[in-house]
Amino acid sequence: MVQKGSIVILDFGGQYAHLIANRVRRLGAYSEIRVSETPAQELKGAAGIILSGGPQSVYEKGSPQADPAILELGIPILGLCYGHQWLAQALGGKVTPGKIKEYGLTSLALKKTPKIFAGLPLTFNAWMSHGDEVTGLPPGFEITASSPACEIAAMVDEKRKMYGIQFHIEVTHTEHGMEILEKFTTLCKPIPWKMGNFVDHISKQIIEDVGAKNVFMLVSGGVDSTVAFTLLNKVLGIDRVRGLLVDTGLMRKNEVKDIQAAFAKLGIANLHVEDASEEFFKNLQGVTDPEQKRKVIGQTFLDVQARVSASMKLRLEDGWMLGQGTIYPDTIETGGTKHADHIKTHHNRVAAIQTLIDAGLVIEPLKELYKDEVRMLGEDLGLPHELVWRHPFPGPGLGVRILCTHEIDPSTGSGGKLKIENDSTIPVPYVVLPVRSVGVQGDGRTYRHAIALFSHHPCKVVATHTMLATSVPNGNREINRVLLCTSHDKPMEFVVTPGSITSDRADLLREADAIVNEEMRAADLEGKIWQFPVVLLPFGSKKGGQSIVLRPIASTDAMTANAYLIEESVLQTITRRILALKGIDTVFLDLTNKPPGTIEWE
Ligand code: XMP
Repeated sequence: MVQKGSIVILDFGGQYAHLIANRVRRLGAYSEIRVSETPAQELKGAAGIILSGGPQSVYEKGSPQADPAILELGIPILGLCYGHQWLAQALGGKVTPGKIKEYGLTSLALKKTPKIFAGLPLTFNAWMSHGDEVTGLPPGFEITASSPACEIAAMVDEKRKMYGIQFHIEVTHTEHGMEILEKFTTLCKPIPWKMGNFVDHISKQIIEDVGAKNVFMLVSGGVDSTVAFTLLNKVLGIDRVRGLLVDTGLMRKNEVKDIQAAFAKLGIANLHVEDASEEFFKNLQGVTDPEQKRKVIGQTFLDVQARVSASMKLRLEDGWMLGQGTIYPDTIETGGTKHADHIKTHHNRVAAIQTLIDAGLVIEPLKELYKDEVRMLGEDLGLPHELVWRHPFPGPGLGVRILCTHEIDPSTGSGGKLKIENDSTIPVPYVVLPVRSVGVQGDGRTYRHAIALFSHHPCKVVATHTMLATSVPNGNREINRVLLCTSHDKPMEFVVTPGSITSDRADLLREADAIVNEEMRAADLEGKIWQFPVVLLPFGSKKGGQSIVLRPIASTDAMTANAYLIEESVLQTITRRILALKGIDTVFLDLTNKPPGTIEWE
């Protein structure tokens, strides 16, 4: 059963179901995503239903369907894109199949102004992307908007409160898209949704689910586990909760201290910090392959956790259950949306954990929330702003940002000798770097070289640089990244120093990372940059020297990203301060978008 008074998004497989659900919550209504086939019986309590878009054609065999009985529930329904076509077909209208016939911004003309379009201008721009098209209205419907290529771009049956819209109201390119969603949400009369209500609701739920047990939680330092741990402490009291933070030696500067201080301020004194850094560095000795590094870090983490929890007598058989900081998108990615395009299993949902969940031995107090809601809750609970709004940080920590090599790459030697295709089309001095990194090109992940561009104004990014960041990987099979050298103005020979992850290298990267964070905050860029990896490379301008790569990106979901262009003066300060670190002699700025480069370097 869905929560009473909520707005339900039936997911037909588009990528936007989460975006719609999150927007609806921002509009003050509780939203839930359900698979499209959810029986109408389970949707009875909903205040409104939104049928999402989806990549398929209603004509395709096996294309996603909804239970036609939802049309009889008397609940307002808004169909978007595929949802609009499904609605038309299910109610006896006509859908005509076709190849992509309208894509991009188009001008929309309103023919009528039903409630959800009230107050909008008679023409505005909307984002279209469709092949199939509704060509015959179902009985009781009228056309509300048309575009030059699509007569029934929107339709309405105001009496039954049913609305079909072909264009994407959820993307920012569509003018007034959010107003339409707001008007639909309002006419559904949902039960109002506020964070305060959530805390009351979830507190009762925690007490009920935990019963007489106690809760043990791994706290990583990330936002989700920190907020979940704080909430559990608040609801159950510190005697019934224990936390374990494993210090891997690969965390950021002062990270452990800051978390301990934040908890201490709230009177939460039940977090055990296990400094296992030596064990991690020992196990990582000689390991240079990126995947192998991740495996060693993951396994060492499990070993430490098992050892410490046994010694603290935190076993399930002793009456403890496991707490996790799982959030709503983590649960949905795993199959909650059967038709979602990008399905991956989140680590909080692997088989062993699922068995515990089925046995009622896992409590996940944030599993109904989106990240922005978790952050709001964190602030309400009294956690510091900087901690709650920190950028995402990968589980293996600095481990995936310390590039390792045990030999000099024979394809470049030490001086970037790799011959690249279309060399004449690169109009600025450059060097192919003696190291490879991960990228995403076409369907797969690539493991290729980066090139560095040089300029008389080393910290000034100009249009030629950004143009080359796209054209060079496109035109050269060997290259997936383009950097700008911010510390030198002329190409030079680089010298590789083979090595794996050591405590010294982690310390050096930690310092560079801390400088970047400080300067990013000082320049008020934290909210504009989505993530800012700082990467240590095993080569420099002289023997034993190493380099730092700055990788600021703008993104919304990490699936795609754009290099964020930092202004010259800030780059100059960061570069100068990093060059003052002993052991670093070169600094680069990564200009590559994703694709073709991934956010992280390995
Ligand atoms: P990529 O590099 O694939 O990264 O563009 C996308 C997002 O995932 C994060 N990331 C990781 N997170 N363990 C994690 O917990 C990992 O091994 C890992 N690798 C990448 C990355 O920081 C970015 O936010």
